[in-house]
Amino acid sequence: MRLQQAAAAALWAAAGLLAVQAQAQAQPYADRYAAQCAACHGAQGISTQPLTPSLAGQPSFYAITQLFLYRDGRRDSGPMTAIARTMSDDDLRGFADAIGKLPPAAAAATMAPDPQRLARGADLAQRLHCLGCHGSQGEGSRQMPRVAGQREDYLLLALRGFRAGTRVGYQPAMTESMAGVAPDQIDDLAHYLAHLQPGPGPARP
Ligand code: HEC
Ligand code: HEC
Repeated sequence: MRLQQAAAAALWAAAGLLAVQAQAQAQPYADRYAAQCAACHGAQGISTQPLTPSLAGQPSFYAITQLFLYRDGRRDSGPMTAIARTMSDDDLRGFADAIGKLPPAAAAATMAPDPQRLARGADLAQRLHCLGCHGSQGEGSRQMPRVAGQREDYLLLALRGFRAGTRVGYQPAMTESMAGVAPDQIDDLAHYLAHLQPGPGPARP
């Protein structure tokens, strides 16, 4: 009986140690995010930089697919391609996990809401089934990015890129979704998504 109790105590101690070790391993990526990423993406993942996406609340699975695409040269961007090229597989995983832990929050809107454009954007999003994939509140899940509350200038850049075929996705969903969408419709969609206020949502990871 005593022996069993001792064995159980040892197991508890080992489990505790493992948890501490896991925390210690997770910590460096939060620190590395602060040192290497926060200047552009914001300390809490809320970007204040033009054409730079907020990462707060982004599912870690989405983040790792995009870091992989940058590293592979399939998603092209000056700074992010150069940064991702220096990353090991462990780095992709570590940074994606750190991003997945940033609490969801909307960026401050860069453009005042225009009720007519919001209504047109909502109608288009409904007809084109945008939120069928991105979550009913735009909160994202797994490989589907959170789009609610993203910076409007970045949303425009992303949607125009898919429409023009210059941004190639991890999967063809977005290229197909944007086929035939007119430029003024893209403007309304971006305006609508940027002003969507998501709850924390069931999104992650
Ligand atoms: C010099 C500024 C800069 C730095 C530093 C930077 N990024 Fe980025 N990042 C960008 C820009 C700009 C984009 C959008 C590029 C594009 O249009 O494809 C981006 C895009 C991303 C995306 C894709 C987001 C999405 O919604 O698709 C991820 C993930 C990302 N960065 C992670 C990181 C991580 C992790 C680090 C730190 C290791 C980092 N970034 C450092 C500027 C930066
Ligand atoms: C069939 C599922 C699906 C549908 C429908 C869909 N999306 Fe997407 N969307 C995705 C996926 C998956 C990605 C990630 C891109 C990739 O594959 O690399 C994405 C990416 C995006 C991005 C880029 C986000 C970022 O952070 O870079 C935006 C913006 C976006 N979608 C908006 C829309 C809009 C607007 C519509 C409706 C016109 C729409 N999506 C319809 C699946 C979908």
